[in-house]
Amino acid sequence: MSLLSIPKAAMSALHRPVYRHRLRVLVDSIIGHLRPGDEVLDVGCGNGTLAAAIKADPRCPEGVRVRGLERYPRGGEPIEVIGYDGGRIPLDDGAVDVVIVADVLHHEPEPDVLASECARIAGRYLIVKDHQVKGLLAQQRISFLDWAANAPYGVPCLYRYNTPSQWVAFRDRLGMEPVEERSSMRIYPFGFEQILGGSLHYFAVLAHSTDQEDEP
Ligand SMILES: C[S@@+](CC[C@H](N)C(=O)[O-])C[C@H]1O[C@@H](n2cnc3c(N)ncnc32)[C@H](O)[C@@H]1O
Repeated sequence: MSLLSIPKAAMSALHRPVYRHRLRVLVDSIIGHLRPGDEVLDVGCGNGTLAAAIKADPRCPEGVRVRGLERYPRGGEPIEVIGYDGGRIPLDDGAVDVVIVADVLHHEPEPDVLASECARIAGRYLIVKDHQVKGLLAQQRISFLDWAANAPYGVPCLYRYNTPSQWVAFRDRLGMEPVEERSSMRIYPFGFEQILGGSLHYFAVLAHSTDQEDEP
């Protein structure tokens, strides 16, 4: 039996505990950057579980409002989701305080266009989580991870990922500077982490340069 013939339900069941661990790590990584009353937009929110988990976390500052933005809204998400056609985001410049774009840019044929839109509407921070080509057989390992994580949900993969230097060039092109930047992330449970975690993951909290001194 080939991997492609594993039923969707079995793939989802395999993926679930790994996804749950990833969700916890992402919430832990993001929540300290939020402030009371923040408007947060999760761009490419998928099923909306990341934004919902941030809002439900006891450490979430008071009055934080989370919403999602999706090119392909799935329906039934636990948060408000704004649908759009993938072009201009239907929000004004600086309309939200924090934009999250988690494992979305590598699905986008024109990641710079999407990232510029995210930066435009982000009043304070743009938080990026994505993959990274770093380490032995990194391209092959991420491609497998990407396929395994997305095939059960029918999300198409382009198998194009940045190297560490391409991530630096990416944020330079956006005209943003890192408040926090990690070129490695312990994101998966033991066993998965050693093969598919660590340096295959990039995380950054980017700020418009004039906002840098605002970090508490
Ligand atoms: C791998 S999923 C990530 C979902 C969620 N961010 C998470 O971390 O669980 C990628 C999502 O990005 C969405 N997407 C791809 N291109 C997009 C775009 N240009 N604008 C908004 N969403 C997009 C896809 O529909 C898909 O739901």
